[in-house]
Amino acid sequence: MTHIAKNIPRHVAIIMDGNGRWARQRGLPRIGGHRAGMASVREIVQVSSKLGIEYLTLYAFSSENWLRPRIEVDALMRLLGFYLQKEIAELDRNNVRLVAIGRLHELTAGARRQLDKAIAALRNNTGLTLVLALSYGGRAEIVDAVREIAREIKAGQIDIADIDEKCISDHLYTAKMMDPDLLIRTSGELRVSNFLLWQISYAEIYVTDTLWPDFRKAEFLKALEDYGKRNRRFGRVHSTRHK
Ligand code: FPP
Repeated sequence: MTHIAKNIPRHVAIIMDGNGRWARQRGLPRIGGHRAGMASVREIVQVSSKLGIEYLTLYAFSSENWLRPRIEVDALMRLLGFYLQKEIAELDRNNVRLVAIGRLHELTAGARRQLDKAIAALRNNTGLTLVLALSYGGRAEIVDAVREIAREIKAGQIDIADIDEKCISDHLYTAKMMDPDLLIRTSGELRVSNFLLWQISYAEIYVTDTLWPDFRKAEFLKALEDYGKRNRRFGRVHSTRHK
């Protein structure tokens, strides 16, 4: 626990995986797993906010998730709307600000409406920023950034020589955020799955076999404690621990 207090990551990103398996183990439909996953979201947001984490980015719906059966996609969209509606007051009480990244225009009208409403209601909060990645793909994000940079060059607003790493970072959906310090993936898969490809260059990675609906406070604290012991070098030789 001492490491947690000393070395809290500023930005935690999570690939919430394993809802389907959790449901199958219990003979439930997949959406039952997503519903249980929503309770984990609630708890992890609360803990993050209490610990003073600045950004929590959750991979809630990927570009590839549109390829799931229609019934599951519809249920996930409804669940998102339901979560936002239900949690808005609690998020507000905890001073949480909400941001969304991804091709948000692709969301269903209902989910988009709830999302816009929640973002607007929470926009002046100054505590944790909860970032929901929705219809999000890391490659699509880079494509969108390249298009925007090309448009600005064509319009004479910037020069080709101005393109550097900062310029690219500034054109991603995450433009105003620091890069994640810690990337957590639940349910044991050793994949990045098109999540924050540019931004995780130097993130510490933590993978647990625990399925997302079972990933609660104790599991989260374990991940943070593990992170606290890491020696981050950012490609250099010396330690930048506790920097
Ligand atoms: C991955 O599990 C999870 C998702 C595709 C969706 C994540 C959604 C939630 C946690 C619920 C609602 C979220 C919010 C923000 C309210 P999977 O279905 O791929 O699991 P599997 O690999 O075991 O099949």
